[in-house]
Amino acid sequence: MTQEFDSIVAGARDAFARAGTPAELENAKAQYVGKSGRITELMKGLAALSVEEKKTRGAAINQAKQAIEAALTQRRRSLADAELEAQLKAEALDVSLPGRIREPGGLHPVSLTMERIEQIFASMGFDVADGPEIESDWHSFTSLNNPPNHPARSMQDTFYVDIDGDDGIPYNLRPHTSPMQVRYAHQHIKRYQEAVQRGDPMPEIRVIAPGRTYRVDSDATHSPMFHQCEGLWLGENVSFKDLKVVFTDFCRTFFESDDLALRFRPSFFPFTEPSAEIDIQFQSGPLAGRWLEVAGSGQVHPTVVRNMGLDPEKHIGFAFGMGPDRLTMLRYGVNDLRLFFDGDIRFLKQFR
Ligand code: PHE
Repeated sequence: MTQEFDSIVAGARDAFARAGTPAELENAKAQYVGKSGRITELMKGLAALSVEEKKTRGAAINQAKQAIEAALTQRRRSLADAELEAQLKAEALDVSLPGRIREPGGLHPVSLTMERIEQIFASMGFDVADGPEIESDWHSFTSLNNPPNHPARSMQDTFYVDIDGDDGIPYNLRPHTSPMQVRYAHQHIKRYQEAVQRGDPMPEIRVIAPGRTYRVDSDATHSPMFHQCEGLWLGENVSFKDLKVVFTDFCRTFFESDDLALRFRPSFFPFTEPSAEIDIQFQSGPLAGRWLEVAGSGQVHPTVVRNMGLDPEKHIGFAFGMGPDRLTMLRYGVNDLRLFFDGDIRFLKQFR
């Protein structure tokens, strides 16, 4: 090949190398082997030559053309390789990255306590009832022998909502589960009325009502939303002694310990008479020796039984309201109530 062709081939190789994209490469190609490219022009020039010259020069041009096409093919391939490489890099999966683990969930410690309370009372023949958290003034207070303007109402700093009841008094976020005493009796009133009509013995009321309750209160031991579990047992002659037996039995089963003392400390609630706070005392462990309040209780007041639509001579018994949050703290040794409401997974994980 002559010097002339060598420099054309070198020029082509150079132009191809400079082309950074397939489009640029195709442009560079056109300048050499395209319709009016350098090689094409040289081919056209052969027409004017003699047969002998055509042969030698034509062969040389062809050789140059083949060299250019080889360079072109090679550059095309390396551009395609580079493109693939870039794409693979962009779409790279880091196979060493740990996968997203879906950890098994678990019940909240207070839910565990609620379930436990339900199981224990169910085993003692108690029904489990649920009721509204937005409650009428009549159910929360008046029906429980706590009339408007009665000073005992200020025992509870109640949240009120923006809806008035039929009595013109706004609805409240129930400050205790006690309204469930009257609600439950009303729900089953037919059974009691039918028994009276037939002259049958009066069916008992034996129920617990666990759920959320609300008060304007917030510190390490009080939350504006907390839990209560109401208990009610009314029968022909259910006495304070039965309350002691049932509640003692419950506490010993709940804490899995017979080494537990109970104290019924005289107190006041408008809806019970006599009334008592129930304190428990562990005989061993980190809380040993301290009296810890776990519930309010008492014999149900005749006015409340009347508000249930029942005869206070025929339905006699006790009620209690306990704090499942407190029971949970005691059972698991949790020292700050707020941990139950923070939703911190590190805390909650421990109860799984
Ligand atoms: N409702 C009372 C309270 O919230 C507890 C209680 C319930 C007391 C039933 C007596 C009987 O403090």
